[in-house]
Amino acid sequence: MIFHQISTERGCQSYLIGCKETCAAIIIDPEITKIEHYLALAAQDGLRIHYLLDTHTHADHFSASQSFARQIGVPIIMHRNSGAPFVDMRVDDGETIIVGELRLRVMHTPGHTEDSMCIILPDRVLTGDTLLIGATGRTDLPTGDPDQLYDSLFNGLLKLNPTLKVYPGHDYKHRGYSTIARELAENPRLKKNNRAEFVELMQTLNLSMPTHLTEALRTNLSGGKTVEQLISEAAEKVSFMAIEEVNNRIQSAAPDILLLDVRERDAFEQGHIAGAMSIPRGQLELRANDQLTDPTQRIVVYCEFGKISTLAAATLREMGFSRAVALDGGLRVWRESGYPLESEKKN
Ligand SMILES: [Fe+2]
Repeated sequence: MIFHQISTERGCQSYLIGCKETCAAIIIDPEITKIEHYLALAAQDGLRIHYLLDTHTHADHFSASQSFARQIGVPIIMHRNSGAPFVDMRVDDGETIIVGELRLRVMHTPGHTEDSMCIILPDRVLTGDTLLIGATGRTDLPTGDPDQLYDSLFNGLLKLNPTLKVYPGHDYKHRGYSTIARELAENPRLKKNNRAEFVELMQTLNLSMPTHLTEALRTNLSGGKTVEQLISEAAEKVSFMAIEEVNNRIQSAAPDILLLDVRERDAFEQGHIAGAMSIPRGQLELRANDQLTDPTQRIVVYCEFGKISTLAAATLREMGFSRAVALDGGLRVWRESGYPLESEKKN
């Protein structure tokens, strides 16, 4: 078996598991920022990815499943209780997923969420957020239930072979893996092995809400896009112009670029690049016909941070302004680099 554990900076763990004999592979809990990484690892080991699997509906990381599955044309596996409409193969407790010659057994372990499952291999178990190293998944997020987590742990997962290695869905301290036996001996949350005490412990943890909770649930449940995805997709459709290049061009006797400021009007009035035209992003499509009369014009779009301008430049290209580009870096970098601003009212 080929086994890779891939971590994000925020401690989310995903796993690439491959069959040496057949070169078939599966990725467990793929995360949106690691897609290139998974592809590189699979290529390096000569593996072809057959499935993507989410151990549960994540509230704390952005699943790559939907966009990645579309990109490489493979099915997404989740537990049958998952609310996500884009799941291709729904599985349930006791079933086996076959990847080449590997057998991955599904154990339904609700509690962290109602669709949580653990994936059992002969020498290890991928526990998702049901069991972490020295902790358990929380039960205070949507569909969480401490009573169910008690059963999933004490009447399920913890009864497996104690020598099994435990690979969790999160590991904030770079410990990699544990074993069932070590967790039974050392995990402080498992010391409360009486149901009422365990439930009380879970209900009084008072954990802060994960950052991006609403965005993660929105995108993971609907298959919609994150804000970062929208911006990076727009960035793939446009080119950029460096600040020095823009400055050189506007200093020249016959500037061949039209600078377009897409920030709100009051920000524009406080200070903008000399000669810029103002059309706030929210009005761009509706005012383009009146104010941008030459579709062959070379337009350099800018905003404060370089994100909105990327979206705006992509929109302009879609509308036929095929020479629209975005300022690389935004007005903040322009200002910090000491380039001049103009503040009189224009347009
Ligand atoms: Fe989770």
